[in-house]
Amino acid sequence: MTDRIVLAYSGGLDTSVAIGWIGEATGAEVIAVAVDVGQGGESLEDIRQRALACGAVEAYVADARDEFANEYAMPTLKANALYQGHYPLVSAISRPVIVKHLVKAAREFGATTVAHGCTGKGNDQVRFEVGIQTLGPDLKCIAPVRDLALTRDKAIAFAEAKGLPIETTKKNPYSIDQNVWGRAVETGYLEDIWNAPTKDIYDYTATPEFPPAPDELIISFVQGVPVAIDGVPVTPLQAIQQLNRRAGAQGVGRIDVVEDRLVGIKSREIYEAPGAMALITAHKHLEDITIEREQARFKATVGQRWSELVYDGQWFSPLKRSLDAFIQDTQQHVSGDIRMTLHGGAAIVTGRRSETSLYDFDLATYDTGDKFDQSQARGFIELWGMSSKVASTRDQRVAGK
Ligand code: ARG
Repeated sequence: MTDRIVLAYSGGLDTSVAIGWIGEATGAEVIAVAVDVGQGGESLEDIRQRALACGAVEAYVADARDEFANEYAMPTLKANALYQGHYPLVSAISRPVIVKHLVKAAREFGATTVAHGCTGKGNDQVRFEVGIQTLGPDLKCIAPVRDLALTRDKAIAFAEAKGLPIETTKKNPYSIDQNVWGRAVETGYLEDIWNAPTKDIYDYTATPEFPPAPDELIISFVQGVPVAIDGVPVTPLQAIQQLNRRAGAQGVGRIDVVEDRLVGIKSREIYEAPGAMALITAHKHLEDITIEREQARFKATVGQRWSELVYDGQWFSPLKRSLDAFIQDTQQHVSGDIRMTLHGGAAIVTGRRSETSLYDFDLATYDTGDKFDQSQARGFIELWGMSSKVASTRDQRVAGK
C-alpha cells in the first residue's frame, strides 16, 4: 500500500506546492488538513477544492473555532498568560489544536507521517512536532521547507510549471499567522528593530491616534470565563469576536516586542490581540477582588511558568496539565462584572462588582464607623519586622568588634 502523509494545509502558496513537492520527494499520497481557528479569509470549502486541485488525494477540513476558543483561549485567559509579560500566545495555542486534528486525520486516513510548512528557525516546528510525538508516538514528522529544500523561489517555479491554481505574483513581505485570539506579523522590514511598524502591517486594529468616541462595556464572568457582554449572553468565541471588533476599533492590543524564541534567537514580532488583551485586563481585575492575596501572588508565578511551557511547545506535557489544575482551582470564585472603557489604544477598567468579592467596604473605608481595629497594627508590625531586627542587631555587633 502506498504510504500516506497528512499535511497541515493553509491554502496558501507554500503548503499548496508542498502537496506535490512531498509527493514527488517521497512517493507518498498526501492528505491536506485545514483547520479553522478563526483566521478568517477563504471558506473551508474553497480551501478543500484547492487542496484537491493541487494533488491531494483527500482533504480533511474542520471548523475548530469553538473548540479553540473553549479549550485553548479560555485556559490562556484564566492564566492571564503573557509570555515575557507581553505576548498572549496567539500562535502558540493554535498549534496544539491543529495537532489534534492532524493526528485524528492521520488515524482516519491511515497515514504514517505528519507534515507541516514551518521553517527550521521558529517555534512552530517545535510545537507541531512535540505535540505530534506526544499524541501519536508512532507518527513520523516531515517539514518540506526545512527537510526537502522547498524555498520560496522553488515554490513559485513549481506552482507555475504545474499550473497550480494559486497566486504566485502577490508578494507579501511579512510572515503572518492569525486566529481569533490575535495576529502575529514578522520578517521583512520589521527585522530592523529600530524600524517603526507601518500602517499596512495592522489588520485587527485601527490606528489608536484617531479613535472613535469612547466605548464603555460590561463583561460578566462566571468562574473566569466571559458569559455575557452588556447583559447579552455570549459564548467564549462570541466574546472574543465581539471584543476583537470593539477593542480593535479603538486600537487596543497592539504589541511590538523583541522576544526570545525557544531555538535561541531573539526576534521582532508585531502582535494585534484586541479581544485577548481586553479580556485579560478585565479578567485580571476581577481576580484582584475575588482571589485571596497569597493565592493570587502564587498564581502570578504559575501563570508565567504556564506561559513559558505553552510558548515552548509543551501544551500536552504533564507539568502543564498540573498547572492547569491549579489555575482552574483558583477560578472557583472569579465571577462577577467588570466595567471597562475602550478608547485610544487603552482598555481601562472603571468598575467591578461580584457576589463572591473579598473586598470589604467596612474594613477598607477611611470614613467613621470602620470595623478595622487599628490598635492591632502596632503589635503586628513589631513581629513582622522582628527577624530582620534581630539580624541587624547581630550585624552591628559583629561589625563593631
Ligand atoms: N513568534 C510567535 C510565536 O512563536 C509568532 C509565530 C508566528 N508564526 C508565523 N509563522 N508567522 O508564537
